[in-house]
Amino acid sequence: MLENLAQQPADALLALIKLHNADPRPDKIDLGVGVYRTGQGDTPVFAAIKAAEKVLLETQDSKSYLGPEGDMGFVHALMPYIFGADDPTMGGRIEGMQTPGGTGAVRLAVALAHKAGIGRIRMGLPSWPNHAQIFADLDVELAGFKHATGEGVVDMDALREAIAACEPGDAILLHGCCHNPTGIDYSNENWDEIAALIAAKGVLPIIDLAYQGLGAGMEEDAYGLRRVLGAVPEALVAYSCDKNFGMYRDRVGAVYAMVADPAQLDTVLSNGNSLARAAWSMPPDHGAAAVRIILSDPELVRIWLDELDTMRARMRQVRARLAEAGMAGAIDLTPLGGQNGLFSVLPLSGDQIMALRSDHGIYMAGSGRINVAGLTMGNIDKFIASVGSVSA
Ligand code: LMR
Repeated sequence: MLENLAQQPADALLALIKLHNADPRPDKIDLGVGVYRTGQGDTPVFAAIKAAEKVLLETQDSKSYLGPEGDMGFVHALMPYIFGADDPTMGGRIEGMQTPGGTGAVRLAVALAHKAGIGRIRMGLPSWPNHAQIFADLDVELAGFKHATGEGVVDMDALREAIAACEPGDAILLHGCCHNPTGIDYSNENWDEIAALIAAKGVLPIIDLAYQGLGAGMEEDAYGLRRVLGAVPEALVAYSCDKNFGMYRDRVGAVYAMVADPAQLDTVLSNGNSLARAAWSMPPDHGAAAVRIILSDPELVRIWLDELDTMRARMRQVRARLAEAGMAGAIDLTPLGGQNGLFSVLPLSGDQIMALRSDHGIYMAGSGRINVAGLTMGNIDKFIASVGSVSA
């Protein structure tokens, strides 16, 4: 039977990691997969995580099973940061479960939506390629609309049309902040309008919040999510700690459901539990336990938030330097200064992207997406010059 399987292409983003690692050039630059890097090009374990892991090592007295919902202390400790400290459960209407990373959270959110009767998800494109892959795997139709205009701002007309076109059985997936891949986020005024439009249309929002704290700040980056959830009766939220706690390989995420009536929560979560049990049974414990320990210790919270501030400031510095460079050949780098998070997209052709890779050792996604955290004050001039030379 297994001979019936057709060869599948390797995931293009993950394949870049191997290609970059295999390149012997000492001045190669990795702008591929979305991991934060310091000004020295490293992705260290957060100091707050190291401290929490010590506590975990000393205090954890069992590795026995928890259950499909994972570490509920972790799930609850995150809620004030996501939904706001005033009323993190929105009157008892929100509950969540731990998932294996942000991918597990998106997967479970879409599976829950599908089980509840959602057949189509509207989503701005381009998006994180795995979104479409997850929808296809779950037999949910993707109806795309344009996320940004040619001028590098959000295409609100396209979004308005997409919401107006929603029919019963449609959901809409929105990136909460730090849009992947474009870095082009909705303004607070945009979110105010989006919340009102979604509420008026009665469409189910699915918010993917994978980069909270890497845009404008923990509170600021939750503005859109809180605005939408404040306006609608029900919503799903996919959350990742892989970036804002640097837990990539430990796979730390959560999915939350907000329901109209607290009495419905049990049923929704029982579906989440059974879907998780069939997919991965239980999420991995270690990373979520470390995050829970941080969030329950004010001093570790302070250290973690400081680390996030440092990351954000460095990405702003890189973006400012790119914007200041202005034109690199035919590519205008100015808009990158106003974009958010790890990513931006450069309008390079496939040939130009390949020339950057082969001639200059610069690795970026085939979409032209760059991870700005891969740039340092030591390699940014080479990057700007190389983009200039391939696009001239
Ligand atoms: C990315 O887009 O690079 C990250 O979200 C990592 C991933 O899983 O694709």
